Amino acid sequence: PVPDLEALKKEAAVRATHLVRSGMRVGLGTGSTAKYAIEELARRIQAGELTDITGVATSEASDTLARSLGLRVEVLDPRPLDLAIDGADEIDPQLNLIKGLGGALLREKLTEIQARQLVIIADHTKVVERLGQKAPLPIEIARFGFLSTIERLRAQLPGGRLRQPGAQPYVTDNGNYIYDAQLPETFDPATLERQLKGTLGVVDTGFFLGMATHAFVAAPDGVRELVR
Ligand code: A5P
Repeated sequence: PVPDLEALKKEAAVRATHLVRSGMRVGLGTGSTAKYAIEELARRIQAGELTDITGVATSEASDTLARSLGLRVEVLDPRPLDLAIDGADEIDPQLNLIKGLGGALLREKLTEIQARQLVIIADHTKVVERLGQKAPLPIEIARFGFLSTIERLRAQLPGGRLRQPGAQPYVTDNGNYIYDAQLPETFDPATLERQLKGTLGVVDTGFFLGMATHAFVAAPDGVRELVR
């Protein structure tokens, strides 16, 4: 039988926690895959396999989950993190990523930029030849004047939309909105990232370029480890 995606996500997460050593400060990712890593970390601490672990959460949801499982969680300060484990929406062959479909991109980037190792965990459906093939690019924007910011973004990337799952726009943990942009057929991620970050009203984008050091990608025939 073919393992379902949830089983694959969990397998990748378990593999990533093998890189965690006692005494480490660990960035805790956000999303349905990162959730398995937080659970496995808590299990290994509970079992006495790991001691003196401090977590730094990348979202309110992961903070709540980690604390509920008994993990020690601290807020981000300027010290480096030994390791961070997180999911991704797309992973390209150079381990460049699109993140933020779960809305946590800003805290993820703020946290993971400080990690000596950023370990990405995913099922095989997240691997792409070029970024933007499957996922939109989430862009976190200020609420004030958001319609004007969206106009500025549409001038560069037509076809995107404000994230709005119900009657109201989606609000991030930081009180901002998200514009989900459609990426063109060909573009240079670093150039586009610079251009978007230079756009008034943009707080940050879901491009994580040159940040991931490892990825564990789980497929029905096993877990592949990719190293940058
Ligand atoms: C959260 O904002 C995202 O960056 C997640 O890491 C990403 O969306 C992956 O989530 P899943 O593991 O739920 O697919």
